[in-house]
Amino acid sequence: MLDLMTDKVQDETRQGEAFAPFSNDPNQYKKRFYIESYGCQMNFADSEVVASILNKEGFGATRNVEEADLIFLNTCSIREKAEQTVRKRLTEFRKLKENRKGMLVGVLGCMAERLKSKFLEEEKLVDIVVGPDAYRSLPELVIEASGGQKAVNVLLSRDETYADISPVRLDSNGVSAFVSIMRGCNNMCSFCVVPFTRGRERSRDFESIIHECKDLFQAGYKEVTLLGQNVDSYYFVDEAKKETITFARLLEQVALISPLLRVRFSTSHPKDITDEVLHTMAKYENICNYIHLPVQSGSSRILQLMNRTYTREWYMAKVDRIRQLIPDCGISSDFIAGFCTEEEKDHQDTLSIMEYSRYDFSYMFFYSERPGTLAQRRYKDDIPAEVKKRRLQEIVEVQNRLSLESNKKDIGKTFKVLIEGDSKKNEKEWKGRNSQNKVIVFPKGNHDLKKGDYVIVKVNDCTQATLLGEIIK
Ligand code: SAH
Ligand code: SF4
Ligand code: F3S
Repeated sequence: MLDLMTDKVQDETRQGEAFAPFSNDPNQYKKRFYIESYGCQMNFADSEVVASILNKEGFGATRNVEEADLIFLNTCSIREKAEQTVRKRLTEFRKLKENRKGMLVGVLGCMAERLKSKFLEEEKLVDIVVGPDAYRSLPELVIEASGGQKAVNVLLSRDETYADISPVRLDSNGVSAFVSIMRGCNNMCSFCVVPFTRGRERSRDFESIIHECKDLFQAGYKEVTLLGQNVDSYYFVDEAKKETITFARLLEQVALISPLLRVRFSTSHPKDITDEVLHTMAKYENICNYIHLPVQSGSSRILQLMNRTYTREWYMAKVDRIRQLIPDCGISSDFIAGFCTEEEKDHQDTLSIMEYSRYDFSYMFFYSERPGTLAQRRYKDDIPAEVKKRRLQEIVEVQNRLSLESNKKDIGKTFKVLIEGDSKKNEKEWKGRNSQNKVIVFPKGNHDLKKGDYVIVKVNDCTQATLLGEIIK
């Protein structure tokens, strides 16, 4: 998470193979499926729902694509590059399909929703196309496709939340898990394809969220990240109890499960994060002091064209408020460089809002026009690619400096760290994160610790992406 991602890096590194725990008995399952996820955390969480649906039908997961009867790609449409990555990956399955009779290839997620049956025309090897709200129909679609017919279900729903499905945890570290709390998005940011691929916003049943979080804690998980495109607009009416549950109340109830369960959330639209949420964060030590607060641009004129509904000044006041109520809060952001009509002075406004907000890290992209969006219909994508790239590079450079400065400020401080596992580079070191979502690496020493334990770590050094420390107790 601490990696500073450019457009290229983000689209290519968020992919990953996933597998569900499966039995050694080769006869237990009718078929084996392999699933690979692209895009945002929502997609990764959805793949766990898909795994659960398929498991119940007797399909077993495999991490070896060669032995799969079903290959699924859970796809992303957010930028053109993300779609190209998926198309390229599909071509790699062509040979495999020729050699393995009866093998089916399915496309899930946002690209499936955007392209619908056009996908089948454009990519001949695809047999199944399923949108994000139609995963319950997967078993039938697989049967249909096994009979030689192409199968499509891209119906969007006003109420599907998969509330009753217990996700099968894929590629999990056993410490942190994602929990979807809502689906869809009602905002109409002019650049964004998500409202078209994910449909209307709907909040998941409160009790089912609490249930899932409790189950995770009982299974040994120590951290849950509550997921939604705009978590702060979570809103659930409990008809029986005559109670309205806001995001602040949901956060509180999850935090009360146990002080040993860390709570994170993503993403917050700046317009919706309330004082009530900030006060709740400040009140509970186990709600992490970290907010991903995507600004997109620092120019009020561009923000208006983007339909973000806040101005530069309003956003800056929100950052002030966060720092006032939660002084040590980590803040990160997303940026789009080179949106329609962006002038040099708008770009300078973006660089200066970065300095003002002092982001700990950011995800940075250049504008990619998406078919069907408001911006595509209304505005010309008029910034030349070289200018977009140069501006993006300048944003990346400022962020790199800000990240290093932010990390240097932590030298000498101590943090409570949740151990997530071995450090990638050295198995004699642990890797974990502090409340602010910064990665800390430190020697294991002679302490009797395991992943999922909390430990107090003093920071002695840092790089731009990582804090380096030692165990204090
Ligand atoms: N719901 C989240 C964003 C989800 S998309 C929010 O509102 O913050 C993640 C990020 O992708 C966005 O914040 C934006 O920075 C980027 N993004 C979305 N559409 C894009 C486009 N057409 N071109 C480039 N970047 C885009
Ligand atoms: Fe897209 Fe805006 Fe919704 Fe985020 S809030 S998913 S950027 S429309
Ligand atoms: Fe991509 Fe869909 Fe997420 S477009 S970013 S996978 S909601």
